Amino acid sequence: MIWKIAYKKNALLLCGKETLLKETFTKEIKKRGKGRCAIKMSIENEYEDKTILVTGGAGCIGTNLCRKLAELGARVIILDDLSSAYEWNIPKVKNIVFVKGSILDEEKLKRVFKEKPDYVFHLAAHFANQNSVDNPETDLMVNGLGTLKVLQYAQLVYVKRFIYSSSGCGVYGLDSKMPFEEHDISISLHTPYQVTKLLGELYTNYFHNLYGLPVVNARFFNVYGPGEVPGRYRNVIPNFFYWAMNKQPLPITGDGTETRDWTYVDDIINGLLAMGIKEEAVGEAINLGSGKEHRVIDLANMVNELTGNDSGVRYVERRDWDVKRRLLSSIEKAKKLLGYEPQMEFEDGLKKVHEWFTENWENIRRSAEF
Ligand SMILES: NC(=O)c1ccc[n+]([C@@H]2O[C@H](COP(=O)([O-])OP(=O)(O)OC[C@H]3O[C@@H](n4cnc5c(N)ncnc54)[C@H](O)[C@@H]3O)[C@@H](O)[C@H]2O)c1
Repeated sequence: MIWKIAYKKNALLLCGKETLLKETFTKEIKKRGKGRCAIKMSIENEYEDKTILVTGGAGCIGTNLCRKLAELGARVIILDDLSSAYEWNIPKVKNIVFVKGSILDEEKLKRVFKEKPDYVFHLAAHFANQNSVDNPETDLMVNGLGTLKVLQYAQLVYVKRFIYSSSGCGVYGLDSKMPFEEHDISISLHTPYQVTKLLGELYTNYFHNLYGLPVVNARFFNVYGPGEVPGRYRNVIPNFFYWAMNKQPLPITGDGTETRDWTYVDDIINGLLAMGIKEEAVGEAINLGSGKEHRVIDLANMVNELTGNDSGVRYVERRDWDVKRRLLSSIEKAKKLLGYEPQMEFEDGLKKVHEWFTENWENIRRSAEF
């Protein structure tokens, strides 16, 4: 497949950072010739020998993505401040370099972008809804200003692709029609996190429109899998496992008939890898979901059964911002543009999470904060 990337001429005169990394991008222009390159590739071999920056690479999705990229022969740089992640959870592989630092820290950004990443997977974020309601300013700083800064540096070094991790729960609202299709977003949102996830998309679109930066907005739906450490602000699946393994009843916020489109992390990664390569994805927002709904009560029962927890469930009040009773993605666009096809059955994915919890229980127990 022929893959072309076009940058506009004024791309380098960007945002007051033109003196930074000057040498780097001057060489890059010469090498690639008049701002264009054409590369033949397949998903399997494209990442080999490439340098890839994964912001937030120590997190749940990030650790799985970095492990996969390293397996494909890439040189991976993680930039993560460990604000919601743990060093023990980062894959210890020789072609993964971990740089501890914030996406708001210019020195750290210069440090990682000096490596001239070919691809940027921007996963770092202040996560997630309740955390943003409690800490709205940090949310705006990290998800808003942090995203802008990463985009500015990505532009300076001519990345081949910038993949932004947006959120299905963020950009679709009560006024969006289910299953959610990419065009049907809402501007009537319920948490600062939803606002800033949408803001990130607006920024990536701006960089694409004005400078020709090859961006893709990946809209994840309720990602789960090995690697997510439970905690006060974490997702329901790791938290259910944590409570179940502590023999506690599982708290259900609502009546349990609410549904979510839980998507296994390996399926998300397959989608992300394709987004890095498929030319058709550039400039697009694409859902990555399972395309299936499961009820919270059924999840709770499965977790209790897998862990042998007899304590059942307990019902607690729904959180004020948690207004969407059902979430379901349309994955037609991902199928068409990426050849995306989720593989993991929900029950099997939960078994994988249980295995990971069992193998890492001591670390998880020590790290989990509620
Ligand atoms: N997990 C989901 O269900 C889901 C759904 C939709 C979107 N997303 C998005 O996907 C991305 C990854 O999600 P995840 O589930 O792996 O979350 P995560 O919290 O595990 O990963 C985010 C990582 O970013 C790091 N981080 C936070 N602030 C930082 C900063 N200032 N500088 C550098 N690193 C920082 C954290 O330490 C963490 O390792 C996020 O952008 C999230 O908004 C996730």
